[in-house]
Amino acid sequence: MTDMSLEGRVAIVTGGGRGIGKAISEAFSKQGAAVIVADSGGDIDGANENATIAENVAKALPGPAQAFSQSVASPEAANELIEMAVTEFGGIDIIVNCAAILRDGLVFKGSTADWDAVIENNLSAAFYLIRAATPVMRQQFKDNRGEGDAYNWGRILNLGSTAGLYGNFGQANYASAKAGLFGLMRITALEMARSQVTCNYVAPFAHSRVTDIIEPANDEQAEYKDRAMRVSPDHVANFISYLCSSKAGDVTGQVFGVRGREVFLFNQPRPIETISQAGKDWTIDELASAVDSNFKEQFTKLETDLEAFNTEPIV
Ligand SMILES: NC(=O)c1ccc[n+]([C@@H]2O[C@H](COP(=O)([O-])OP(=O)(O)OC[C@H]3O[C@@H](n4cnc5c(N)ncnc54)[C@H](O)[C@@H]3O)[C@@H](O)[C@H]2O)c1
Repeated sequence: MTDMSLEGRVAIVTGGGRGIGKAISEAFSKQGAAVIVADSGGDIDGANENATIAENVAKALPGPAQAFSQSVASPEAANELIEMAVTEFGGIDIIVNCAAILRDGLVFKGSTADWDAVIENNLSAAFYLIRAATPVMRQQFKDNRGEGDAYNWGRILNLGSTAGLYGNFGQANYASAKAGLFGLMRITALEMARSQVTCNYVAPFAHSRVTDIIEPANDEQAEYKDRAMRVSPDHVANFISYLCSSKAGDVTGQVFGVRGREVFLFNQPRPIETISQAGKDWTIDELASAVDSNFKEQFTKLETDLEAFNTEPIV
């Protein structure tokens, strides 16, 4: 039986023309949602935009769909997207911030232009779209859009990366943007809870053009690439479909990872140990000794996400 549980709902998927975003667009459409495929179709570094990428995906979707082929990385584009959703499809229920570019470089060689481009594209664009969507979503909640419990909700997903949680060599700009998406997710989850809009962070692992271009520098990276190539983006789309279902109305503010048939729940930074002394300031020596004896055993390991997930995926 076809699952049409998203029928009547309206979704915007940035980066919806390729890879994981395309799998999400297809999953939503199969479940009956109207989908705006927002993809400027550029190269991995964002250059050479190509309108046919979004257009072809939108055309091939089984349900109502529109292509938006401009870059989503501007406040104007975000406003136009929401306007398009409201005018063409009557509202906005789901936002998936999936568009991203890569401009890797070691931190001591990083260029300002690359930093600015990646932060604008991978982090600010998500803020622009959330800022444009949330007033409409709040109003939809007040208006009880769709009536009953069927429509008075919203879902916002930030596609993050374990690079932003662990770190990775050469990805200062990308990891900073992805870490920023975590903070943006928490604030959005807090501020939109009263309007029954959830917001979560999903760190995906999947085969895409990004994994295709990895040029392994050592055996470990070659193994990582080999494993990544076997993981379909459909698993990520499937988990995102669950988060967009009515079953996940109380799932918000969380960090998940999806790699094939494995789904991870990540912890979030909270104090795990405290040292304190009343009545006087710490001396450097006292701090050194207290940190050594109370904190050191619990320090977070300096490992990359590649090292942390260097295990066989379940596919
Ligand atoms: N593939 C993985 O294993 C992996 C791992 C960690 C994180 N991610 C994240 O998952 C998401 C999808 O990655 P993917 O591997 O499918 O990448 P991808 O390069 O295949 O797809 C990204 C899409 O985003 C589009 N895009 C980029 N900037 C845009 C902009 N400003 N406006 C409109 N469209 C834009 C691109 O044209 C492209 O089609 C990204 O956020 C990425 O950082 C992927």
